[in-house]
Amino acid sequence: MEVVPLGSVDEVAALGADVIESTVRARSGAAVLGLATGSTPLPTYRELIRRHEAGLAPSYDGVRCFTLDEYVGLPPGHPESYRATIARELTDPLGIPADRVQGPSPELEGLPTAGERYEEALVAAGGVDVQVLGIGSDGHLAFNEPGSSLASLTRLKTLTEETRRDNARFFGSIDEVPRHVLTQGLGTILRARHLLLLATGAGKAAALSAAVEGPVSASCPASVLQLHPHVTVLCDATAASGLARREHYREVYDAKPSWQGL
Ligand code: PGA
Repeated sequence: MEVVPLGSVDEVAALGADVIESTVRARSGAAVLGLATGSTPLPTYRELIRRHEAGLAPSYDGVRCFTLDEYVGLPPGHPESYRATIARELTDPLGIPADRVQGPSPELEGLPTAGERYEEALVAAGGVDVQVLGIGSDGHLAFNEPGSSLASLTRLKTLTEETRRDNARFFGSIDEVPRHVLTQGLGTILRARHLLLLATGAGKAAALSAAVEGPVSASCPASVLQLHPHVTVLCDATAASGLARREHYREVYDAKPSWQGL
């Protein structure tokens, strides 16, 4: 795992955008991007859009996107559904058509098989090249709450009260936050070829240190990242504040040969 402590949210966004763009360039239009929703990736997404609009970005023609998770029980087209959110915040502004952006299907009739069908779609696309991830204040990854199997695949899950409280800011009140979600499992996430975890703000410091420096445990789902061969963690100073080895991580990054990349 490569942890890169940075000075600001803007630095996280710039380096995050570099990683995603370099994947798109390397795969010459055939890249498969795994996209997270939530607040943390938004500055990175805005930076990608800024570069695209300035004519500085690679072509997104042919790029395919898969979201991590989706609420169950929202009316179709609800602005806080993750399908609507990712279109608004990233893929529409980048000109990626809706039929190349997929998420787990939350329709009630197909719910028992929705996880399996999503796994099949990910495999059929050749797997995810780079998966953007945030981390929950309780250590969740996607919507894999503490206690989730480290080998889990896409399935229906129930949110913790902490996560529903965290996400109430996107809705009128906590009562409007759905209780159920479909989420890629931790085992699904581990299949992506490169994992890009973004963490900003003091509210993430405890979860980040447990994920990076604590034991691998279902009690901190994000600790499963320690099992993946190619993880990049970009964090600002406040999110990094709980990391015992943060100075070493920065030294390693500063001493890195430029040809190595992230
Ligand atoms: P946030 O959510 O980016 O909105 O803090 C992260 C997460 O819940 O995974």
